Amino acid sequence: MQVGFVGWRGMVGSVLMQRMVAEKDFENITSIFFSTSQAGQSVTMRDGREVLLKDANDESQLLEMDAIISCQGGDYTKKIHGPLRASGWQGYWIDAASTLRMASNSMIVLDPINNVDIKLAIDDGKKDFIGGNCTTSLMMLALHGLFRDELVEWVSAMTYQAASGAGAQNMRELIQQMGSIHDVTKNELASAEGDVLEIDSLVLERMRAQEFPTEQFGAPLAGSLIPWIDSDLGDGQSREEWKAQAETNKILGRQENPIPVEGICVRIGAMRCHSQALTFKLTESVPVLEVEKILSEANEWVSVVPNDKLSTVAMLSPTSVTRTLDVPVGRIRKLNIPGNIYSAFTVGDQLLWGAAEPLRRMLRILVDRG
Ligand code: HSE
Repeated sequence: MQVGFVGWRGMVGSVLMQRMVAEKDFENITSIFFSTSQAGQSVTMRDGREVLLKDANDESQLLEMDAIISCQGGDYTKKIHGPLRASGWQGYWIDAASTLRMASNSMIVLDPINNVDIKLAIDDGKKDFIGGNCTTSLMMLALHGLFRDELVEWVSAMTYQAASGAGAQNMRELIQQMGSIHDVTKNELASAEGDVLEIDSLVLERMRAQEFPTEQFGAPLAGSLIPWIDSDLGDGQSREEWKAQAETNKILGRQENPIPVEGICVRIGAMRCHSQALTFKLTESVPVLEVEKILSEANEWVSVVPNDKLSTVAMLSPTSVTRTLDVPVGRIRKLNIPGNIYSAFTVGDQLLWGAAEPLRRMLRILVDRG
């Protein structure tokens, strides 16, 4: 299988490359690397291979691929995918952008959950397999068992989303903001006697100053938060919030009879793990121990964190989960609200299960089918 990679040096692309090397995925394919800016140049890959970059904007070179994996972003998909298909290209298109997700002839891929449907779609001749929104995929992996057993009546997901979801430049800006705040307070911090209200005032002054670096986020994030992610749909909902219900139900094959998924998406100062406080209503009263069992047995990445302070602080944070494929879920309680309402809190690496891993596994499914 000739597989073309586009956008493989960006943030999601680099994580995809790391995972593919770790899982020896390159051994089963012929990989061709494309570039939008350095076509014709030779580069040394992580594994020492020298490769000549092809032109990611040259349709004739792309047409030769059996599959294309793009981590280049939605603008590239918009520009390239339609014309390629119009030229009669029959290869598999795999990407992580939202551009094609809701198209009727594309699948959103999250194979621990919709493996059977993915295989049916391949048999059916579908060719576009698209990774889901990161918060949606991570929420679904966490609640997988309850969705599978058709126990979920509705979900509210209040998110705490990391800088990485906004892009590499945003991760850099978050650190610059942290550094800028530290710079202005370091003399006061050096002395244990430093007046904390004075420190607080210096911090605020810096965060509100013209020179505070906010070019990417448009607002201070370090020491603050931003309760809006993605575009404004004009009806009080952000596009990020809209995606949760739309994509969950597409993945579950329930577009005709959707499970309501609602919430508020918030950017916080974490680097690359998205966290979510979930409230959900079950169709029946299920003891908490049973809920924990259903959740923990659903897939090999989810694990239940005991709902006590020590376990929660140790195991349920971006710091403990980052760079792992684990999807811990904790804070599970039946709430003191009538009607089978439960809470949970989950954390997942936005660049792994939230972006690169579903694409890597989709390619693997295609390769394994031969
Ligand atoms: N839209 C997500 C975010 C990124 O901004 O965090 C991945 O879907």
